[in-house]
Amino acid sequence: MNHSVVYTELGGPEVMHLVETPEPTADAGQVVVQVTAAGVNPIDAKQRAGGRVLPPIEEPRHVGFDGAGVVLEVGPSVSGLNVGDRVAIVETRGTYTERLAVDARNAVPIPEGVSDEQAAAIGIPASTAYQAVRSLGIEAGDTLLVHAGSGAVGQAAIQFAVDRGARVVATASARKHPRLRQLNAIPVEYGPGLVERVRAVAPHGITAILDAAGTDEAIEASLELLEAHDRIGTIVRGADAPGWGIQAWSGGSAEPLTLQEVQWRTEAIPLTLDMLATGRFSVEIGARLPLREAVEAHRLLAAGGSGKIILQP
Ligand SMILES: NC(=O)c1ccc[n+]([C@@H]2O[C@H](COP(=O)([O-])OP(=O)(O)OC[C@H]3O[C@@H](n4cnc5c(N)ncnc54)[C@H](OP(=O)(O)O)[C@@H]3O)[C@@H](O)[C@H]2O)c1
Repeated sequence: MNHSVVYTELGGPEVMHLVETPEPTADAGQVVVQVTAAGVNPIDAKQRAGGRVLPPIEEPRHVGFDGAGVVLEVGPSVSGLNVGDRVAIVETRGTYTERLAVDARNAVPIPEGVSDEQAAAIGIPASTAYQAVRSLGIEAGDTLLVHAGSGAVGQAAIQFAVDRGARVVATASARKHPRLRQLNAIPVEYGPGLVERVRAVAPHGITAILDAAGTDEAIEASLELLEAHDRIGTIVRGADAPGWGIQAWSGGSAEPLTLQEVQWRTEAIPLTLDMLATGRFSVEIGARLPLREAVEAHRLLAAGGSGKIILQP
């Protein structure tokens, strides 16, 4: 019997339960994956808490969108994937589980040298960060400010921007500054005086801003630091962004992603796996917990530790 984390009502972490669920089978165009690692993302908690508009819960809602594992079964009309292949699972609801049917296009082969947990850690964060960096048109000569640079999206955005030749200034609490320096970003503490601190380390000015924090402070500082509001983008304050004249990608935005933005998110996964395999990208892994401790994983997420939390089925 398979086991999966589900909830039937919205609320705190404790609404999630590990329950028996049917064994998945691979329909046409699908593979069944034995999940070895599931990445925990803020969106999992926001949806669970009712912070994102979704249809009413009519049957148990499965949790998690990112994961990794080994292909157990290949359905009809699938090419390029074989039983035993290690794959990253992206854009698939229900990765907090032991076994999962995944559309073949969302099962991306993991190159040698990349661990399952690294692969499980990149789905939403790397695809979002890469798309944001491309949407902002970051290139050599830019000085990008990343709010919440120490988070999973922030760290990925720093690395993509540095890879494209940009200078990066990133906000984080002081204890996370060493990690930002490792990624070649200039760390700055958020909090009162943020604008002055950013100006001190970027005297020639900031040319683009990615907000992954969503605080009023991050938004107000951004509007003050950069006149070209179209080069400011948020992934958190989508609902408010039009009023400020800044870009927004999901995060509560009424505007869907453009086809180009979706394309960038898709191409980010094999690109990031390749960068991981060749040592040009790193992910910070935080707590590792067994699947039955999903509730604790969400409590840790809310408490704001360091690194990507991984569930191990
Ligand atoms: N729109 C989209 O498509 C999309 C996609 C992915 C994520 N998101 C959203 O983007 C946000 C970040 O996601 P994530 O996966 O990177 O989360 P994460 O890994 O949990 O990181 C969150 C970061 O926020 C930082 N932070 C906390 N308070 C802050 C403050 N007052 N000012 C600046 N930074 C602060 C924390 O850093 P310190 O510990 O240093 O304080 C932490 O590193 C979440 O709200 C998430 O839901 C949106």
